[in-house]
Amino acid sequence: MKYPWCDYRRRLSPLKLAVFTALFLPAAWTALAFATGNLGARPLTEAIHQQGLWTVRLILVALAITPLKAILQWQRLILVRRMVGVAAFTYVMLHFALYIADENFNLVTVASEVAKRIYLTIGFIALVGLAVLAATSTDKMVRRLGRRWQTLHRIVYVICALGLIHYSMQSKLEQWEPTIADGIFAWLMGYRLLAWKFAVRGRLALPWIAGLSVVATVLTGFGEALYFHLAFHVDLARVLAADFSLQTGVRPAVIVFAFSLIVLAAGLLRTRLAPPPKGRPRYA
Ligand code: HEM
Repeated sequence: MKYPWCDYRRRLSPLKLAVFTALFLPAAWTALAFATGNLGARPLTEAIHQQGLWTVRLILVALAITPLKAILQWQRLILVRRMVGVAAFTYVMLHFALYIADENFNLVTVASEVAKRIYLTIGFIALVGLAVLAATSTDKMVRRLGRRWQTLHRIVYVICALGLIHYSMQSKLEQWEPTIADGIFAWLMGYRLLAWKFAVRGRLALPWIAGLSVVATVLTGFGEALYFHLAFHVDLARVLAADFSLQTGVRPAVIVFAFSLIVLAAGLLRTRLAPPPKGRPRYA
């Protein structure tokens, strides 16, 4: 019997055990807050929101594992990717189940709402996509699908984009965290694009990561400005000015820049601790 906290050799993996335990915490926290009446005036709505947020966060974490594995030269990180992906699916099912409960278990209303409201339709398509990925994540399915498994699992990029659109659409004016999530997604996709073109033995030189940090930050700022301009006709220059100054609080572009710098610093530190053989460039 292979337990989720065992590695490929069926030995206990402390990394897998720690991640496995951590993945239960957000749901346990919501359940506890719900049971003790600490979820605000509309506990069910708040519980729906929290599980939705964790779905987005976990999809982003799953997408971050491949770049971090290369940048930190931490091969064992791959051991937890499937677990995080399956957890994202579990959280979206909780999110959906709570939504059904909020609609008094009336499945006809749920179906008609999903068909009528575009942000729910988009969310539902993403949920179906995650279900397909979860169902094809077993060792048996990976073996059976062979090379097609990797091709199929690339739909996670589309699923994440749909999840982020669903998130932004329902958040309306509250775009702070959705914009940060969009910026991090841009970084993660940019990394893959650069790695596909310029990686050597699966690793990308650090200057590429530095360039990517700048591009993702600028895209986040412009993306936020464009959203407020298109949705609320706010002057583009005004949002941009706010984006790149700290006077209006810490804007999403700044958080994305900080995230990029932390990853870059970790990459630098890692190459210093384990420098590449002489004559070879520094890789992340
Ligand atoms: C991968 C799929 C999905 C993801 C990533 C996702 C994520 C999210 C996120 C992040 C929020 C906002 C939380 C907040 O602002 O605090 C949200 C809200 C919501 N989602 Fe989803 N969701 C998904 C699928 C679905 C599905 C299938 C349904 C139902 C059919 C659904 C129904 C809702 C509802 C009702 C809200 C709250 C809207 C409001 O309060 O106005 N979501 N979702």
